[in-house]
Amino acid sequence: MKESENNNVVGKAREYYNSGDADRFYFQIWGGEDIHIGLYEGPEHSIAAAGEVTVARMIGKLPPEINESARVLDIGAGYGGSARQFVKARGGKLTCLNLSEVQNERNRRKNEERGLAEAIEVVDGNFEDLPFEADAFDVVWCQDSILHSGNREKVFQEVDRVLKPGGHFIFTDIMQKAGVDPNELRDVYNRIHLDSLGSIEEFREYGEKLGWQFVEFEDHSHQLPEHYQRVHDELTQRRERLKGQISEEYVDRMLNGLRHWVAAGRAGNLRWGIVHFHKP
Ligand SMILES: C[S@@+](CC[C@H](N)C(=O)[O-])C[C@H]1O[C@@H](n2cnc3c(N)ncnc32)[C@H](O)[C@@H]1O
Repeated sequence: MKESENNNVVGKAREYYNSGDADRFYFQIWGGEDIHIGLYEGPEHSIAAAGEVTVARMIGKLPPEINESARVLDIGAGYGGSARQFVKARGGKLTCLNLSEVQNERNRRKNEERGLAEAIEVVDGNFEDLPFEADAFDVVWCQDSILHSGNREKVFQEVDRVLKPGGHFIFTDIMQKAGVDPNELRDVYNRIHLDSLGSIEEFREYGEKLGWQFVEFEDHSHQLPEHYQRVHDELTQRRERLKGQISEEYVDRMLNGLRHWVAAGRAGNLRWGIVHFHKP
């Protein structure tokens, strides 16, 4: 992708997440803390609670040495729910980096309300061009954000630059099945203004090029259609109450988009899970 096209992708992601409709949709339907796929343990499990299970599962994969002395960076950090959960579990200082200033303001406010403003720093920025020194972090963390990048390899290179030797890169992402016909995913790509998603094979190749050790891919692909179906149903149910807060046009487009994501997930064309690399 040309640099000008990529700037346009970054600009669109920023404009989208800053918009009042998107902010109110994610804040109200997803629970105001997390905007990622949850690990559902049963039909009664809520979107917000399942989102916390994902974070807990990721934290559990990091060795106990990642504690209050570790420096952790969350890229594409949304409202910062994962950072707050991380600090509670392991202590330490976290940095949240995110493109959306609207989400960052909510993140800062929540940290202040919970007495975590000292522990969590929130930085406006782009994960393709991280505003940090080399070798600054013990862990780079990311949830369901790399999919918004038009230059995924650049994200990996930037992560490598800021990660200390011995550091961990742990993330979840919505990926496509290797070798899938792009026409099968056209409606999925349209929602994020891109023409592909990453795949586990692609990510492993980037990691290998950087000399990283691939630790694991914990495959939870079946949770993807489950999650988006729940978001779809929750939005449908609350639609009347949200009138005047989220535009009808946004709701229609979102419901339509979610149906495509559910269908692509059920067809086995999308993958999702926890990916873990170690930088020697
Ligand atoms: C699906 S949300 C996930 C948010 C958060 N990781 C979570 O799990 O709650 C995707 C996030 O990626 C951010 N994002 C998209 N493109 C980005 C970029 N180029 N640089 C930094 N953040 C970006 C968006 O602003 C949004 O917060």
